[in-house]
Amino acid sequence: METSSALQHRAADHMTRSMHYDAIILGAGGAGLMCAAIAGQAGARVLVLDHAPKAGKKILISGGGRCNFTNTGTEAGNFLSENPHFAKSALSRYTQWDFLGMVQAHGIAWHEKTLGQLFCDDSARRIVAMLLDECAKGGADIRLSTQIGEVRHADATYHVAGDTADALVIATGGPSIPKMGATGVAYDLARQFGLPLVTPRPALVPFTLGDSDAAFREISGVAVPSVARVGSTAFEEASLFTHRGLSGPAVLQVSSYWSPGQAVTIDLLRDAAAKLRDARSRMPRSGLKAALIEHLPKRLADVLADRIALPTELGNASDATLDDVAAQLQHLTFHPTGTEGYAKAEVTAGGIDTAALSSKTMEARSVPGLYAIGEAVDVTGWLGGYNFQWAWSSGWAAGVAI
Ligand code: FDA
Repeated sequence: METSSALQHRAADHMTRSMHYDAIILGAGGAGLMCAAIAGQAGARVLVLDHAPKAGKKILISGGGRCNFTNTGTEAGNFLSENPHFAKSALSRYTQWDFLGMVQAHGIAWHEKTLGQLFCDDSARRIVAMLLDECAKGGADIRLSTQIGEVRHADATYHVAGDTADALVIATGGPSIPKMGATGVAYDLARQFGLPLVTPRPALVPFTLGDSDAAFREISGVAVPSVARVGSTAFEEASLFTHRGLSGPAVLQVSSYWSPGQAVTIDLLRDAAAKLRDARSRMPRSGLKAALIEHLPKRLADVLADRIALPTELGNASDATLDDVAAQLQHLTFHPTGTEGYAKAEVTAGGIDTAALSSKTMEARSVPGLYAIGEAVDVTGWLGGYNFQWAWSSGWAAGVAI
């Protein structure tokens, strides 16, 4: 069997002569590599093209370098899409347990960090190496540092970068983190082939706050357990104050559900009313700040005590007053001026409209042989390993169909 690096170099030999493949896969990210491995192992001749010099770049930086590669609790409810049912087929046919099986078969040590999130013990490089090994088993050609250029479709054949194929798979992800080479080429291709788009937008992205919330920007680095809310959607995890606004897992989760102009509320103190009453009975001569410091970081307590301004000692505050303070602590309301955009967004929500695709095979209904998988499609996971699981599941679904 060829090694993965031999495979990548073998592709260079093809530079001068045109090859015909069963499928050309655009994008050597998680979805494209999974698709190439599965299709190749089923006997298809596949070529993967990517403009980056390395395969799986987002995998390599994910999860702080340890790749949160799936979530044990994955189900369709963990994804946003115009069609919430679309992801069900692929997710149920190639599950988190299937991917974990592959990880274990490759001897990659892993652990559950929290909330069902599975990470590599040592390095995300193990996941990329595993996928490249699986591609090598299927004899897939992987050609990196290659521009896609013009894509043509004539006589049921796709023409790309000097080669041809019966099928073309769009696996080029979304435009999140352009400095890593992410582009919106998936959307250009979708337009070229007449596939509709759900307007893409940055998701799992920090919020920016304006001058009225400047005091919170001064406490950059403070993180607290919280419940963040946008509309009726709430996530209980940490929130983080940054020098530009708000971040942390709970905030990133609700950002995917946010529309410009909507308020974001954060519950900073569970059982706030009971905690304040308890403080009043124990330290009636103290002010609000002293009560808050018992439960929250001091810098945050300072800002909150200024903002809420209880103009009396705790001992003089009525139940109604403490309830009002508690309500403010549990519904601390922000009106973000925006988000930090694609430069900081972990994923892109929206993308190729699932209405144009078969949920079983990921093939375009109106363009035979054209497939779209992974983040390029309007299926966006929560934070916590769900986006990679979608990449694996949708890549697998297209891989078996090719
Ligand atoms: P992906 O973006 O991975 O791959 C697309 C490929 O297409 C890339 O190799 C790119 O170079 C190539 N490409 C793009 N434009 C091209 C062009 N014009 N020409 C040629 N090639 C082109 N998810 C998760 O589940 N767990 C996690 O721990 C993390 N962590 C994380 C951290 C950070 C910092 C980011 C930015 C994202 C995550 N994610 C994540 C999200 C996850 O990385 C993402 O959803 C998947 O990588 C999507 O896989 P795809 O294969 O669809 O696209």
